[in-house]
Amino acid sequence: MTILVAGAHGGVGQHIVRQLTEAGHSVRAMIRDADQASAMEALGGEPVVSDLTSDVSDAVSGADAVIFAAGSGGEKLEAVDKNGAIRTIDACVEQGVNRFVMLSSIGADAPDEADQLQDYLRAKHAADEHLKASPLTWTILRPTRLLNGAAKGTAAFATSLNFDEHPKEIDREDVAAALVASLTVSETEGAVIEMTSGDTPIREGLAAL
Ligand SMILES: NC(=O)c1ccc[n+]([C@@H]2O[C@H](COP(=O)([O-])OP(=O)(O)OC[C@H]3O[C@@H](n4cnc5c(N)ncnc54)[C@H](OP(=O)(O)O)[C@@H]3O)[C@@H](O)[C@H]2O)c1
Repeated sequence: MTILVAGAHGGVGQHIVRQLTEAGHSVRAMIRDADQASAMEALGGEPVVSDLTSDVSDAVSGADAVIFAAGSGGEKLEAVDKNGAIRTIDACVEQGVNRFVMLSSIGADAPDEADQLQDYLRAKHAADEHLKASPLTWTILRPTRLLNGAAKGTAAFATSLNFDEHPKEIDREDVAAALVASLTVSETEGAVIEMTSGDTPIREGLAAL
């Protein structure tokens, strides 16, 4: 498959590009800064310079699927986390790119109930709802707090996790593995999935949903 990765130079995005390449996919690595091109090539991706705050049709065109792992980091919640995601979803519809895997966040289902980051979660919620209402084949993954430890290859997945039973953090490399695996695990299609640290092999956990 040819997969466009939005946010390809990010903490999760770089793991995604490398893992997709290792799995034999063609990767279009979307970056907004051309200086990041060589880093994308080193991971096996073809750099595509495009900014989520403007038209992304050319970046999306020709892909079989999109993994959206971009994020504003808090400064441009409306422009990037909400409207940038919506723009990418709409471009997929227009360009006939049917598969869309969204990196969302725990708490994006009910932003008003969150203790913190409500504006960020409202932006993620709006993007997720737009994706769910689209004609695309979608997966929405909602991990807990992201860490930079080495991949464990295991996690906990549920439509609604019980945090009395699970820690509320997960390593970026394992989140990338779940996003990549979602492309080929049909049980993730049309599913909103919460993810945190746990003991279930990632592919097995997704297939059990
Ligand atoms: N941090 C957490 O604990 C947590 C928990 C759950 C979910 N999440 C979600 O996971 C996402 C990815 O996390 P991460 O740690 O990989 O984030 P990250 O390292 O900040 O990566 C985000 C990527 O998005 C890119 N980006 C930002 N604005 C853009 C624009 N206008 N056009 C194109 N690309 C743009 C950034 O590009 P540049 O390299 O040019 O800045 C960066 O490469 C977060 O954004 C968040 O939505 C995070």
